Amino acid sequence: MDVLLSRASTDRLQDPAPDRAQLEQILATALRAPDHGRLQPWRYVIVQGEARSILAENVVASTLRVAPQTPQFNLDKRRQRMATMPMTIVLGMHLHPEHKIPLWEQEMSVAAGAMNILNALHALGFGGIWVSGPITQDPVLAAQFGFEAPHRLAGFVFVGTPDNPLPAPTRPDPAGFMAVWDGTPPVFGQDRNHAP
Ligand SMILES: Cc1cc2nc3c(=O)[nH]c(=O)nc-3n(C[C@H](O)[C@H](O)[C@H](O)COP(=O)(O)O)c2cc1C
Repeated sequence: MDVLLSRASTDRLQDPAPDRAQLEQILATALRAPDHGRLQPWRYVIVQGEARSILAENVVASTLRVAPQTPQFNLDKRRQRMATMPMTIVLGMHLHPEHKIPLWEQEMSVAAGAMNILNALHALGFGGIWVSGPITQDPVLAAQFGFEAPHRLAGFVFVGTPDNPLPAPTRPDPAGFMAVWDGTPPVFGQDRNHAP
């Protein structure tokens, strides 16, 4: 429980990234995500070392495709970030749109797998963050990682070792997010306190 409750995302990451054995352990937890119909939609492309600069260039090119007006400063920042993360796990979704299991359930299984990756990283003393942005919807970028339509990307997990101890995450009171049902639609404490 301590591991689950203390996890926090960070992109302030340095070496080391997980080694091959650790990575396989981490991905094994991803493959334990619930998976309606056993469609196994999870795919992971590992980017490290020299390949990071190709990732960075592909991401910049994708950014210009989806948002041609992006200022040079932002492109440079993004290139630098992508090229220097100790490891990036590209999250792929191997999808079957025609299957009787709805697409959204297949996508949620990938998301559940990603959550396990973040928790497993933290459990082993590593850190990470799941990032996305409009480039995640770019079919050209997806294809560069082997995900031709109908397969798609679910984002990127930056991976490494946090450069400083993680600050304790703020944790909302679970009571605001739950309701004991009495047969009528509940109003959640969280929604009472915060206007939508
Ligand atoms: C599908 C998905 C995409 C996300 N994309 C981004 C992103 O592009 N940039 C970003 O800063 N955070 C993004 N986040 C949020 C971070 O992963 C993270 O949840 C957030 O920084 C809060 O940190 P915490 O996990 O410590 O609560 C995304 C989260 C999800 C679930």
